[in-house]
Amino acid sequence: MKYEKEVSRRRTFAIISHPDAGKTTLTEKLLLFGGAIQTAGAVKSNKIKKHATSDFMEIERQRGISVATSVMTFEYKDCLINLLDTPGHKDFAEDTYRTLTAVDSVILVVDSVNGVEDQTRRLMEVCRMRDTPVIVFVNKMDRDGKNRFDLLEEIEKELKLSLHPMTWPINSGKDFKGVYNIHTKNLVLFSAHTKADDTENVLEISDINSPILETKIGERDANLLREDVELIEAVNGDLNVEEYLQGKIAPVFFGSAVNNFGVREMLETFVNIAPRPQSRQTSTREVKVGEDKFSGFIFKIHANLDPKHRDRIGFMRVCSGKFERNKYYHHVRLDKDIRFSNPYSFLARSKDIIEDAYPGDVVGLFDTGNFKIGDTLTEGENFYFTGIPTFSPEIFKELVNKDPMKTKQLEKGIAQLTDEGVAQLFTQFGGNKKIIGCVGELQFEVIQYRLLQEYGAACEFRTLPFYKACWLTSKDEQKLNDFLRFKQQNSAEDKDGNPVYLAQSEWFLNTEITNNPEITFHFTSEVHK
Ligand code: G4P
Repeated sequence: MKYEKEVSRRRTFAIISHPDAGKTTLTEKLLLFGGAIQTAGAVKSNKIKKHATSDFMEIERQRGISVATSVMTFEYKDCLINLLDTPGHKDFAEDTYRTLTAVDSVILVVDSVNGVEDQTRRLMEVCRMRDTPVIVFVNKMDRDGKNRFDLLEEIEKELKLSLHPMTWPINSGKDFKGVYNIHTKNLVLFSAHTKADDTENVLEISDINSPILETKIGERDANLLREDVELIEAVNGDLNVEEYLQGKIAPVFFGSAVNNFGVREMLETFVNIAPRPQSRQTSTREVKVGEDKFSGFIFKIHANLDPKHRDRIGFMRVCSGKFERNKYYHHVRLDKDIRFSNPYSFLARSKDIIEDAYPGDVVGLFDTGNFKIGDTLTEGENFYFTGIPTFSPEIFKELVNKDPMKTKQLEKGIAQLTDEGVAQLFTQFGGNKKIIGCVGELQFEVIQYRLLQEYGAACEFRTLPFYKACWLTSKDEQKLNDFLRFKQQNSAEDKDGNPVYLAQSEWFLNTEITNNPEITFHFTSEVHK
């Protein structure tokens, strides 16, 4: 393989969590380990403020900044690590889901006090669709959390994941004494605010029955730890890395991100076992990561903050070969060759123009309107990457034009915004009603604001009673057409003309699925079919 050295050292991943579980804090600690930032607080200050008075104005302000934190690249040991940000909080959007199609693995942060929460559940569903390998970090062990066995059971059940503890905590909250590293047989004693290079609290224990344990953590906790570890080892045995890579088993670490405790143990394991960039399926064949020729796809588009300049940044994941600045590449959907004179990498400190990039890397490409989510670039071959689906929105509203003189601007604006992937556009079957679907409520405000600011088009939204969009296919075209006609109120076309059923509730949806066995209801749509 021509670029073996570069490919094998890359690890591209995302951290997912429910808001407030500690994702930003963990990100920061990882960047400190990697030397990408020097001081704590550097990432945090970029985070969208939780208590901002007007959330979406805050998002507007932060849009520029969040580009910089979209991809954070740092080195640890011999690995080059690309950490892709998944926006959380109220700016949670389809972007968040789609970023997961551009990574090779994820770290899931669970708050030991609150356990599994809704957003985590939805993100994990996306990971499961692609069998993405997962490492779990149970955070906030310095707080009185749930019983650790109960918590693991909850995670297993809720997220349909098999867990494999790699470390084991000794108590939690005020009594938290540290973790025992089951695999390296180390006891790591807890002290608040552990420094990045702190190793003095690591105690090698070749035998867990050694009396040293009693002197360090006391008799009661030593006995409890021995019992726990015996039980876990009996159930789990050694970590089967192959099963982790297949997304069947998730190693678990316990720690406290804010105290930088337990983070190193996880990072060490991560660089050892996390998958390097993988081969990917396309519409015609599997593209091997080691192929000489370049290929990549756009998974996210970011609009410019300045409304006078409509240029955007396309985020491209390199899948094979070597991407080079100023070289012509084939834009498959548009069937034209384009080159990029200012591609840039997203180093945590600054945006740097890059000369080349390798599989696993994410490159920022300036775009004047050529890109749609899912677009593929190649060295000439015609294929597109599959597995970059559109997910069903969760909130649906009718788009109402408030200024008939600006109809054209509104249509252009909504077309461009939906190309960016901020929302989905459906047109009601047999009518002209435009329906906008988003994952988060806030997106509607952002769209309304941007349509007015950037396109001069005033609009408002009328709430619709739908809860899910399902893409429909059938071998029997007549049956499908009859269904669409019969269910006109609930039928629509997506932007590419694919038929969609808009369900009012789970009950309605299940009823239609049962009553129409010839029609298949899909919960996601591939961007290209
Ligand atoms: P997020 O990105 O997942 O939303 O979470 P974030 O890192 O911002 O963490 C949310 C809150 O939890 C922060 O407190 C953070 O300091 C705290 N936190 C993170 N890790 C730990 C931990 O291991 N133990 C404890 N006890 N707290 C933790 P905050 O008060 O909201 O913000 P700040 O004022 O501390 O910045």
